[in-house]
Amino acid sequence: MELPFKHGKVVETSYFVNRKEEIHHLQNNFISKINTTLISPRRWGKSSLVLKASKDLTKKNKRIRFVYLDLFNIRSEEEFYKTFTKEVLKVSYTKWEDRLKKATEFFKQLIPKFSFGIDPQNEFSVSFNWHDVMENPSEILNLPEVISKEKKIEIVICLDEFQNIGHFNNPLAFQKKLRAHWQYHQIATYCMYGSKRNMMTEIFEHKSMPFYKFGDVIFLQKISTTHWVKYIIKKFKKTNKVISHELAKNIVKLVENHSYYTQQLANKVWLNTADKVSKKNIEKSINQLIENYEMLFQKELDTLTNQQVNLLKAIVNNELQLNNKNTIKKYNLGTSSSVTSAKKALILKEVIDIYNKEIIFLDPLFKNWFQHFYIQKT
Ligand SMILES: Nc1ncnc2c1ncn2[C@@H]1O[C@H](COP(=O)(O)OP(=O)(O)OP(=O)(O)O)[C@@H](O)[C@H]1O
Ligand SMILES: [Mg+2]
Repeated sequence: MELPFKHGKVVETSYFVNRKEEIHHLQNNFISKINTTLISPRRWGKSSLVLKASKDLTKKNKRIRFVYLDLFNIRSEEEFYKTFTKEVLKVSYTKWEDRLKKATEFFKQLIPKFSFGIDPQNEFSVSFNWHDVMENPSEILNLPEVISKEKKIEIVICLDEFQNIGHFNNPLAFQKKLRAHWQYHQIATYCMYGSKRNMMTEIFEHKSMPFYKFGDVIFLQKISTTHWVKYIIKKFKKTNKVISHELAKNIVKLVENHSYYTQQLANKVWLNTADKVSKKNIEKSINQLIENYEMLFQKELDTLTNQQVNLLKAIVNNELQLNNKNTIKKYNLGTSSSVTSAKKALILKEVIDIYNKEIIFLDPLFKNWFQHFYIQKT
């Protein structure tokens, strides 16, 4: 049975909600050749947004070619260069013979070694002598610009999960190499996006880091309640079920507009409803959802110190002055400086973050569980 809501993979078509302004903003950057960095906590919709904006633009503009690299699957600098070369060639030339011919033409110092599978059009890989690449990766890193000029196309490189370069042997040196080449590109454009917000902001916002002021930095916001509600009502209607405006709003509120969870909770409500959604259906669904995640949440909590848990209690109770004497006493937080270090630790562990100058729980469902189930029990 096909469910009316989708969560898990990137969403497109009828599952994609609004983001009109963001799509416009991104497309404008792509057309104007402005490099972009897109940052948000996990599962708010970065990958879906970049895919939607780029695919829609490809339909209108045949000169723009998008190369998608997911750094989640790339564990080393060497692998990065191989995949980068392969994907750039693949997007630029449709015939495998051309890929081979052009590569021999463009690489003068490095010698690319190709291997082809039974279906050479789709199965091929490129490798290099690693020592040569380490000495000078210029020919690889400049490839998008060289091809864009020669072929009169505009290559946009999309680098998903960019924070993963943190796993490379020397991330800082690697960033320097990228920046040193890409900053001179006139046509080839770069769009980097990722989640671990601390690492992403460090890469792009710290003056000492190579990518500082490399381009436009966008902090993605959540999809607004109005758009979610409209979407939920429409999907129910299409499948011959009914949900009121108020209850659709309720779904969105329970998961604080979190993209992934909104779709997931909406599916649960849909499954628990015969024809008309009631308050009870929603209650049952949110409880089921929390139950699904409970073990995971408990595990996560077990990794925290007592002081960190106490601080979470203060945050969940909307205490605004965390370093205040009374708050410290009420929640047993130790000293003002231990509050500060507990906060830092929770940010590092990606439990909380500061977004729009406010402390938020990165996972709204974890927050819900912590507040209504965990604290109640203890
Ligand atoms: N514009 C959107 N409309 C509707 N649902 C969305 C939208 N964007 C994201 N979602 C929902 O959120 C889920 C996660 O989206 P996506 O993978 O794009 O987020 P992400 O920020 O790239 O996540 P991650 O940080 O894990 O890479 C999707 O599977 C979908 O359920
Ligand atoms: Mg993603």
